[in-house]
Amino acid sequence: MNLIRMNSGASIPQIGLGVFQTKDGEETCNAVKWALEAGYRHIDTAMIYGNEASVGKGMKESGIAREEIFLTTKLWNADIRAQRAKEAFEESLKALGTDYVDLYLLHWPVDHFAEAWAALEDLHMEGKIKTIGVSNFQIHHLEELEKTQRIAPAVNQIESHPYFNNQEVIDYCLAKNIQIEAWSPLGGTGGNVLQDPELARIGAKYGKSPAQVVIRWDIQRGIIVLPKSTHQNRIIQNLDVFDFELSDEDVRAIYDLNRNRRVGPDPDHCDF
Ligand code: A2P
Repeated sequence: MNLIRMNSGASIPQIGLGVFQTKDGEETCNAVKWALEAGYRHIDTAMIYGNEASVGKGMKESGIAREEIFLTTKLWNADIRAQRAKEAFEESLKALGTDYVDLYLLHWPVDHFAEAWAALEDLHMEGKIKTIGVSNFQIHHLEELEKTQRIAPAVNQIESHPYFNNQEVIDYCLAKNIQIEAWSPLGGTGGNVLQDPELARIGAKYGKSPAQVVIRWDIQRGIIVLPKSTHQNRIIQNLDVFDFELSDEDVRAIYDLNRNRRVGPDPDHCDF
């Protein structure tokens, strides 16, 4: 598994299992266990997904040591607005059944994000969070945070897939040594990115599926990718992307699919 080194000094596996909308209980627990069994060592959840307890259970039942797994969760908007970052963080730890997380993110750039960031900096300095970062931050949010931050975010987790590659934010962050994590990398649940004939055409050349082509594109553009699936065969397939390399021409062809169309909310209008 490729690792990316972050500004905290820690390394993050370049592919992680996403569990947004994966149902609490058996569905999440199985997805986590299948992923760890397949060789994933990186799980990405959030308090608002409502499945932290099942993520923790899956990790325990996998038999894999806690310190071998890179675990991310996120501080929800209501807790940012209510300035209860430290309490919410403890609640997440309890639900996950662990005493630290590898990465803790501000989920969206809502009011009071700078104060919440200061709380995350404190928790990081106390050793309870190995690395801190943000999610869904636009360039202007990062510029605003920069005015008061003591520690720069190590990552920015954003929507990015072939129909919305979000490259401007990616280029800005990578130039500042802020690593990028892509959410909905396959175009999201119910999306139609994977049906694009261009991805099938490219995949056929390498004997790979459209999903594998997209994940490989993310690996080659140097970002962290968080595909989600509740099916064991797809979870296995999505990690099987290290035995081929897309040509420069194919990488460019995938960039050309961009339509600047989000599948998720616009971070400049976070009224949730
Ligand atoms: P499913 O859980 O039914 O497998 P993402 O949010 O990561 O962009 O993923 C979007 C959807 O793509 C997921 O809901 C998932 O549905 C589906 N998916 C994940 N991996 C694959 C794959 N290898 N082939 C086809 N569909 C996939």
